[in-house]
Amino acid sequence: MSVLDPLTCRGTAALLTGLLMAAAAQVHAQAPATPPPGSPAIALPGQPTPPPEAAPQASAEAGRQIAAKGSAQGAAACISCHGERGEGGASFPRLAGTGAAYLRAQLDAFADGSRANPIMQPIAKALNAQERASLALYYSRLPAPAAVQPARADASPDDTGAWLAARGRWSDGLPACAQCHGPGGQGVGEHFPPLAGQPAAYIVEQLKAWRGNARPPGPLKLMVAVAAKLSDADIAAVANHYAGLGQQSSSVPAVAAPAVPAATAHNGGKP
Ligand code: HEC
Ligand code: HEC
Repeated sequence: MSVLDPLTCRGTAALLTGLLMAAAAQVHAQAPATPPPGSPAIALPGQPTPPPEAAPQASAEAGRQIAAKGSAQGAAACISCHGERGEGGASFPRLAGTGAAYLRAQLDAFADGSRANPIMQPIAKALNAQERASLALYYSRLPAPAAVQPARADASPDDTGAWLAARGRWSDGLPACAQCHGPGGQGVGEHFPPLAGQPAAYIVEQLKAWRGNARPPGPLKLMVAVAAKLSDADIAAVANHYAGLGQQSSSVPAVAAPAVPAATAHNGGKP
């Protein structure tokens, strides 16, 4: 039904972008938030974020302690995989500066099993709802890694990754990734996570997980519809593109090439 419409109709996608920009502008103006019913206020990464709804006891300090030391119920310390400052690395995604609502939804999905992953499921299951909310709040407040490369406005159609990121493929009803994830893939607000600097292998796995129903559909099933329109070659190209955007910053470790499945190892246009 209508969930696919934003992807098949240029006008609707533009409307969606307009709504996003309006939300972002609202945050910039620091106007009192007037969130749509049922959804948390949209806030940009790095800004003090009020605790997500239904988690009034979320405490960034409690989150910090679990991140550093693990939990009493046996959840492993997050820093051992996600880095001291949530910066990610190797095949582990970055968490720093990502929306609290997004992070909490992911931890809840690992905990209830709807997001499949043999490493994160037992960790999330060992955390209670309040601890998951506290961790989400803590990571949302950590600064995102320093400046990623700006999006290339002059993307060439030969560079599939950069082209899909900046332009999409309208013949196929595929909007540009940048429309929802921001011009440099830095993420937008609470619900559109960053892509810049995420490990290529991780991005590949997430897109394939949506194609294979191994990850919950997320807001409006937007990514299910996006992933369905991407070929394996598109996925490899766009993953390498976004992984490459983070390499400007010395705080982000380079993507470990061996972790990229052979089929995706060829370079999608990264310098
Ligand atoms: C042993 C390594 C390991 C530890 C420890 C670990 N993680 Fe993870 N984490 C992973 C891996 C691997 C993934 C990618 C899962 C996937 O592919 O779906 C991940 C993914 C995530 C994601 C999803 C990120 C996104 O962008 O969707 C969140 C959130 C997360 N971890 C939070 C945590 C928290 C909080 C802790 C500490 C309580 C933690 N992790 C501890 C390995 C780990
Ligand atoms: C219409 C909006 C929209 C467009 C266009 C879009 N995305 Fe997304 N994307 C989302 C939303 C919303 C999420 C969060 C999904 C969730 O909460 O599970 C997301 C999540 C993701 C994730 C998971 C990130 C993580 O940390 O786990 C990846 C990878 C991703 N998108 C890649 C892409 C790529 C590549 C493109 C372009 C080919 C794209 N997206 C285009 C809305 C969009």
